[in-house]
Amino acid sequence: FSLNKTYSVSLPTMQFKLNTKDTASKARAGVITTDHGTIETPIFMPVGTVGTVKGVHQTELKNEINPDIILGNTYHLYLRPQTKILEKAGGLHKFMNWDRNILTDSGGYQVYSLSGRRKIKEEGVKFKSHIDGSYHTFTPENVMEIQRSIGADIIMAFDECTPYPCDYNYAKRSMHMTHRWLKRCITHLDKTPFKYDYAQTFFPIVQGSTYKDLRKQSAEYIASAGAEGNAIGGLSVGEPAEEMYEMTEVVTAILPEDKPRYLMGVGTPINILENIALGIDMFDCVMPTRNARNGMLFTANGTINIKNKKWEDDFSPIDEMGITYVDTLYSKAYLRHLFAAKELLGKQIASIHNLGFYMWLVREARKHILAGDFTEWKNRMVKQMDKRL
Ligand code: GUN
Repeated sequence: FSLNKTYSVSLPTMQFKLNTKDTASKARAGVITTDHGTIETPIFMPVGTVGTVKGVHQTELKNEINPDIILGNTYHLYLRPQTKILEKAGGLHKFMNWDRNILTDSGGYQVYSLSGRRKIKEEGVKFKSHIDGSYHTFTPENVMEIQRSIGADIIMAFDECTPYPCDYNYAKRSMHMTHRWLKRCITHLDKTPFKYDYAQTFFPIVQGSTYKDLRKQSAEYIASAGAEGNAIGGLSVGEPAEEMYEMTEVVTAILPEDKPRYLMGVGTPINILENIALGIDMFDCVMPTRNARNGMLFTANGTINIKNKKWEDDFSPIDEMGITYVDTLYSKAYLRHLFAAKELLGKQIASIHNLGFYMWLVREARKHILAGDFTEWKNRMVKQMDKRL
């Protein structure tokens, strides 16, 4: 590619190499390569909504958590610091000093979360800023422009994420609108050159709520766009896990095998392992960081509420596994004290721990896929993690 080259979804801007397919499940291990380096899959992408993985310094993120890719949000970055500042900075990578991969979500989900403060029409979504109450409109076209300005390596289609439960007719109409919006996204991207000296890859999003026939139809439509990677949206919005897995299964059977598959906004450690088994390669979720800030720690042996009185005089390490340096540097009693005293450091320690654990989990999953014993390991882990300590 070269600077200012016009984009087309059919131009290769990313490579995906499948290393191994599991025989007992649909799990895969692969490597994505972009202009900002390689991403080993399956991957969990820490969420950096406003250009920061909340509470975590870039040095800790890189050296301790070490993800190949992180996530940013179009909705938040558009409102603040705004695209003009990001353009002046030379894009989000430079602005936040992150030289590895970034993916931006399109705002389809954030706008959905603004229920009551937004109006969805064929043209786009009019919404009220959560910051100053000002009115804005997102359309498939301007969301593509904004994502060009932010400059993530992977950019997402503008879609409507349906709620759960969702009336069949609403889900069907919404899915068709998401498909029409996809066409508009692609048409507009074809006319909009890259802004910086690296390529961007576009992922469309499957919708269809919890209806198998709609999911199937949407997956077929999304696959026909021929993009270099595909995403599944509209899940983990309150439906039972079994329904989520059913939808993933229907969709992964249709999406091309030689392209990465990204399940948006999922999930718990158990959800991640179950969806890896169904053929998902990429995940993101606020859970490890958001729950960390509320004192919830994920470990290989189950979850811990560190605010609980039972940890008051437990001077054992936060996590004997010692995945990140905070795990053995601090004790449970000390971390509990920080939460009781509402100290900032408590939230920071818990965030590093949880992200370190999520990264460990997907890396272990990859190792076991490569070793050929993924299903056995997954079943053992699912049982083990389903506990409150
Ligand atoms: N994040 C979680 N779910 C979704 C979705 O359905 N659409 C988008 N754009 N982002 C998401």
